Amino acid sequence: MSRNGGSVPACAFVIFGVTGDLTERKLMPALYRLHVRGSLHEDSVIIGHARSDLTDEELRRRMAEALAREVPEFDPAAWQRLAPRLHYIRGAYDQPDGFEKLAALLATLALPGRVFYTATPPAVYEEIARGLDEAGLTQEPEGGFARLVVEKPFGSDLASAKALNEALLARFQEHQLFRIDHYLAKETAQNLAVLRFANTMFEPLWNSSYIDHVQISVLEPMGMEGRGSFYEAAGVVRDVFQNHLLQLMALVGMEPPARFDAREVRNEKVKFFSAVACPEPGEVVLGQYVSGNGYPGYRQEEDVDPGSRQATYAAMRLEVSNWRWAGVPFYLRSGKRLEGKASEIVLQFKTPPHVPFELEAPLRPDRLILRIAPDEGIELRFNGKRPGQRIDLSRISLDFDYQETFDSPNPDAYETLLQDAMEGDATLFMRADEVEAQWRIVEPILARENSTSPEFYEAGGPGPSEAFALLTNSGRDWVRPAGLDTD
Ligand code: BG6
Repeated sequence: MSRNGGSVPACAFVIFGVTGDLTERKLMPALYRLHVRGSLHEDSVIIGHARSDLTDEELRRRMAEALAREVPEFDPAAWQRLAPRLHYIRGAYDQPDGFEKLAALLATLALPGRVFYTATPPAVYEEIARGLDEAGLTQEPEGGFARLVVEKPFGSDLASAKALNEALLARFQEHQLFRIDHYLAKETAQNLAVLRFANTMFEPLWNSSYIDHVQISVLEPMGMEGRGSFYEAAGVVRDVFQNHLLQLMALVGMEPPARFDAREVRNEKVKFFSAVACPEPGEVVLGQYVSGNGYPGYRQEEDVDPGSRQATYAAMRLEVSNWRWAGVPFYLRSGKRLEGKASEIVLQFKTPPHVPFELEAPLRPDRLILRIAPDEGIELRFNGKRPGQRIDLSRISLDFDYQETFDSPNPDAYETLLQDAMEGDATLFMRADEVEAQWRIVEPILARENSTSPEFYEAGGPGPSEAFALLTNSGRDWVRPAGLDTD
């Protein structure tokens, strides 16, 4: 059964860069789980493409090992039914022969649909699109489809993102392009739209009359984990702000779409981004971790310049210039090597205009907290009366937790995305103009990145104190995610 209620079409799922880490950690586990769930058509095949010299059998063995490692519920019997449907093609990205062999195999298989996935370094995305086009593989046969799924990062600034869009659109049409941002497929991110647009009680309050500010945090305990050279070029703003954090911000801030489909949702997000300006220098804090709590500093990580100024942490205050949000700051923060893993969105409400009770402490504002990780769920924190003769206020909460409410575990974001790509639903993927709008917001920050020294913060700690001052300066505070205290 498809996500949209129809049947999943049969297709060839072609992975460029099949020998890489992304395939083993994310793509194969997702395809395997779709197969186990019956969401991969029984005629569908998986074709791996890479430069290494491998046979079909060797690829199957590699993938079985990866699945045994990555999928706790791995069932060898289920794998035996999928393994024969894996094929391997060797080829270089800048040479036609690999693409020609692929075209020949696809012609033999005669499947109506083709999904091509770029699990390669971004430098070869254009070559892959060209190779596919020159081998005649971008054409959509009658009743079939040809789609290209493009991994992040999509460009490294506005100019390169525009150039990449242009290069891909010279080979494919926009409806054939699926630009990944896996945060959009996380259950809480998808639930945001349902919470807002399938209930009456939230949306009337969802504006500057009732909301004081919004916080979006993506905090990570990991350091570089072998990604030092990637991070030296990327840094935190390119790695997660340009995409994940801005996408979450758009889901909170966009206007209700007329229909929840790719065209309408993406129109609304682009409209929202056009109301967001790049923050002024005083509204951005860039940080870098130094050794602490037994961890090395960023500059001591493998493949990192010992004098690097790259930001591994950023916090910023963004304004949205439209009727709904004018005057409501959106605070975004994310960093590596922090004290724990927590991704969440907080909407903090304004306090009531008058409180008729005698209070011993200042009234605490109501908060709606959307937990993306860990413990996905939604919590509403508000004030209530403590039982007893006196009116004594206490903090109480309504808490929805996915694991407690639903029997089955949440699908991994990649399962959702791969299934959507096979079904042709681009709602959770980014359109060309959307990616460019996101670059426009963060690009001025990138220009400042290397000109100033970052604020240093201790590895394994809460992040730079300047990021906390960004809020305390206006009488606010970052809400400490509950997930940081549960380990
Ligand atoms: C990726 C970034 O896009 O997102 C990583 O490149 C980051 O640096 C990751 O760790 C976070 O995703 P998740 O799903 O683990 O929160």
